[in-house]
Amino acid sequence: MAYIISTINLKGGVGKTTTTVALAEFLSAAFNKRVLVIDLDPQTNLTTVLIGEDKWKRLNDEGRTLATLFKDSLRPEDEPANFDIGKTLQRSVSPISEVQWVDLLPSSLDLIDVQDRLASMPPGRFYSNNPTDLLRKAVKSIIDDYDFVLVDCPPNLGIVTLNGLRISDGYIIPTIPDVLSTYGIPQIQQRVRAFAESLGEDIAEIGIVVTKYRKASTVHVNTVRRLEEDPELPTVLQSYIPEANQIAASAEYVGASTLRQKYGYQGQHQILRSLTKEFISLVEELA
Ligand SMILES: Nc1ncnc2c1ncn2[C@@H]1O[C@H](COP(=O)(O)OP(=O)(O)OP(=O)(O)O)[C@@H](O)[C@H]1O
Ligand SMILES: [Mg+2]
Repeated sequence: MAYIISTINLKGGVGKTTTTVALAEFLSAAFNKRVLVIDLDPQTNLTTVLIGEDKWKRLNDEGRTLATLFKDSLRPEDEPANFDIGKTLQRSVSPISEVQWVDLLPSSLDLIDVQDRLASMPPGRFYSNNPTDLLRKAVKSIIDDYDFVLVDCPPNLGIVTLNGLRISDGYIIPTIPDVLSTYGIPQIQQRVRAFAESLGEDIAEIGIVVTKYRKASTVHVNTVRRLEEDPELPTVLQSYIPEANQIAASAEYVGASTLRQKYGYQGQHQILRSLTKEFISLVEELA
């Protein structure tokens, strides 16, 4: 059985995608897990980090992205569906040789438009076809091929994000440890809880991942302490991702043979590995 975990924060630019990619790569390379990543963000950052811009464009032209899945739900009843999970699933995508088993369901810029159209659908249209259930139905046949499924969400809780949450056993909240970035965390908890209750299911708070951490910053040190001491907030994972040039550079699609080469030797590799280990233990506690 796969564990399905979403990466969520309503704030943009806090390291959601970077965290998702790193977890996927370390789960595969350091812990031998079979991983699927699902990119639900129309910005397609995760997709281009993993397969590069050129390949993404080809797939997008051929309709082999998740936008096709969501577009299908808007077509007239008598038209055939275009989404094909087999053609959309990209196998063993990471350009890092030691990362063997990370597969990808790519995103598309077209998701912006689809999201708007889905949101404006008259509700009656979905009595038999709940629009937050599209992804679940689409991935049902492949999900058990994986140990972990990571869903990278856009910085909102729109219908596309709800499709990701719908299949999730839990979620993580990456955040920069400063006042404005952490301000909205209780709101995320509350809205995910309300959505889970409406489904009659549990979507567990796995934890907060501290990103772009600067140990010389008083604000960062104090904010992390405040997060850790607040009993209402999810657990803070103890491996803080440091702010580092090499982590910023990791967004570029370039090959390397090892994750040590990709993330650098100044301790980042070790921290991302221990973060992944903590992540696995927290997720396995769910079972
Ligand atoms: N630990 C880090 N050190 C330095 N730069 C980082 C780090 N983590 C992320 N970045 C950079 O910060 C920017 C935002 O990161 P990322 O794209 O992962 O955030 P995001 O939350 O997914 O953003 P969005 O809300 O737009 O999807 C990127 O340019 C990324 O390369
Ligand atoms: Mg992102």
